[in-house]
Amino acid sequence: MGLFKKGQRVLDLGASPGSWTLYAAKQVGPNGRVLGIDLNDAPIALPPQAEILTLDAFEVDPETLGGPFDLVISDMAPKTSGQRHADQYRSYELVMRALELTKIVLKPGGTFVAKIFQGAEFEDARNAVREVFGKVRILRPKATRDESYEVFLVGLGFQPTTP
Ligand SMILES: C[S@@+](CC[C@H](N)C(=O)[O-])C[C@H]1O[C@@H](n2cnc3c(N)ncnc32)[C@H](O)[C@@H]1O
Repeated sequence: MGLFKKGQRVLDLGASPGSWTLYAAKQVGPNGRVLGIDLNDAPIALPPQAEILTLDAFEVDPETLGGPFDLVISDMAPKTSGQRHADQYRSYELVMRALELTKIVLKPGGTFVAKIFQGAEFEDARNAVREVFGKVRILRPKATRDESYEVFLVGLGFQPTTP
């Protein structure tokens, strides 16, 4: 699935330490733009079209992000507590917040990709994405680690609803 195109504007939620931001910046090229936000600093060298701001996704005002964007990616993840259900629930809350921001800043037709720990709320998250995207896909990363229950929810073809 080719997510990136030259010249795109990308919002990268949960961007620190910055590997996705750097990758996205290379993909969109010098005429694109990648804005990352994260609770933590990201002391990584980035090309001029990319930057990472230290911000909490729950507190940021979406109107200040300089949208609209063609693509919103969220790799936000909670600090794992070892309590699987609690961690899954916090991951679900992060995805729902990512989706809330996306509904405000994404261009019609745009794409949303968000990591989620699969758990009891997974179907709710998938349905919430389905409500505003023409197609929903689930991507399972090839690399399996302890958190192998991580998957990516992908929404294609954003269809904004009138408030
Ligand atoms: C798996 S890491 C991201 C890795 C990053 N995508 C990369 O490629 O380098 C998850 C990140 O989500 C961030 N995060 C968790 N809750 C957040 C929130 N409320 N607002 C912003 N970032 C958050 C964490 O600080 C952490 O850096």
